[in-house]
Amino acid sequence: MGMAAVDGCMGLDVVPLGGTGARVSSLALGTWRFGRERDGVVEIERDRAMALLDAYAEAGGTFIDTADFYGDGRAESWIGEWLADRDRASFVIASKVFWPTREDDPNAHGLGRKHLRRSIDEILDRLGTDYLEVLYVNRWGDHTPVEDDTPLEEYLRTLTGFVEDGRVHYLGTSTMVPEAWKVARANERAQQLGLEPFTVAQPRYNLVNRAVEHGYLNAASTYDLGVCPWSPLAGGFLSGKYRRGEDPPAWSRAAVEPEVAGAYLTDENYETLADVRAVADDLGATPAQVSLAWLRHRDVVTAPVVGARTVDQLQENLGAADLSLSDKQVQRLADA
Ligand SMILES: NC(=O)c1ccc[n+]([C@@H]2O[C@H](COP(=O)([O-])OP(=O)(O)OC[C@H]3O[C@@H](n4cnc5c(N)ncnc54)[C@H](OP(=O)(O)O)[C@@H]3O)[C@@H](O)[C@H]2O)c1
Repeated sequence: MGMAAVDGCMGLDVVPLGGTGARVSSLALGTWRFGRERDGVVEIERDRAMALLDAYAEAGGTFIDTADFYGDGRAESWIGEWLADRDRASFVIASKVFWPTREDDPNAHGLGRKHLRRSIDEILDRLGTDYLEVLYVNRWGDHTPVEDDTPLEEYLRTLTGFVEDGRVHYLGTSTMVPEAWKVARANERAQQLGLEPFTVAQPRYNLVNRAVEHGYLNAASTYDLGVCPWSPLAGGFLSGKYRRGEDPPAWSRAAVEPEVAGAYLTDENYETLADVRAVADDLGATPAQVSLAWLRHRDVVTAPVVGARTVDQLQENLGAADLSLSDKQVQRLADA
């Protein structure tokens, strides 16, 4: 895992997905903002989405991360259109279920059997494929505005059915609030019942959000999960484009979403960023590259899920694949 490349692939190295038999690029492409509309403006339009997918594939990237609700299904549909002209087998596609997919339908959200069965059909249809390498449970059903109290055994059995019928290769869990005991409970129960365990995890993890280090990553190591951190740049904060006391650049996420500014543009985070900038200056790299490289140096991390709004941002971020940090630099950032 981490920096242990098993193969070379045009710049982006290829690593094992945790303890599974799958191999993935060590930086995944995130598609959360594909087709996402806010105040009538689509953040990443179809043409830009295609350009991002092209740039990622040209760099040797194979690991594409999406979810059923990204852009109300547009993200998956666009990936499907893009994949139609390519060799599907060369890519590893991960999607997610949990959030509501129809309004006013009590069975159209969460982890109940009816929702999961309908969702997997719809996901595969939009992606134009008959299998997914990874299907994540996007939330466990708590700490969210969407209530869901589906019994663990019901969704473990339903998800196991998807693996057995070949539509899904591996099960993943994605978290907002990282609670290690839930992973442990689910995987112990799966083992007792002879069901499929979770083998991939997608927690929020970056230099200024490190809650997973308190137990969750230990659980991930114990169960040999492939860890694919989301928001690896803290929504763009760790790119260094925000300056203390200045308005966020036009069109940046913090300008468009005031809650991002509130959460990330804090004095404490700017202190951490100062160390990131110093390491970046020493290496002739950018703060985004250093922040991503730091995650890649964590043994437990398989592949950060890189978000980018533009091709330039993506190319900068993929440059992290070629960046090595010394042990001292890794430690300095960990202590920041
Ligand atoms: N499982 C989950 O619950 C969950 C939750 C969130 C995300 N995800 C996944 O993780 C992916 C990444 O999440 P994220 O978008 O929050 O990641 P992120 O890397 O923390 O933030 C990405 C944003 O930062 C800015 N940015 C990126 N690279 C930059 C650069 N080099 N220079 C300047 N600005 C840069 C861009 O925003 P602006 O240019 O607009 O400022 C970009 O949209 C998503 O696409 C999705 O696939 C999963």
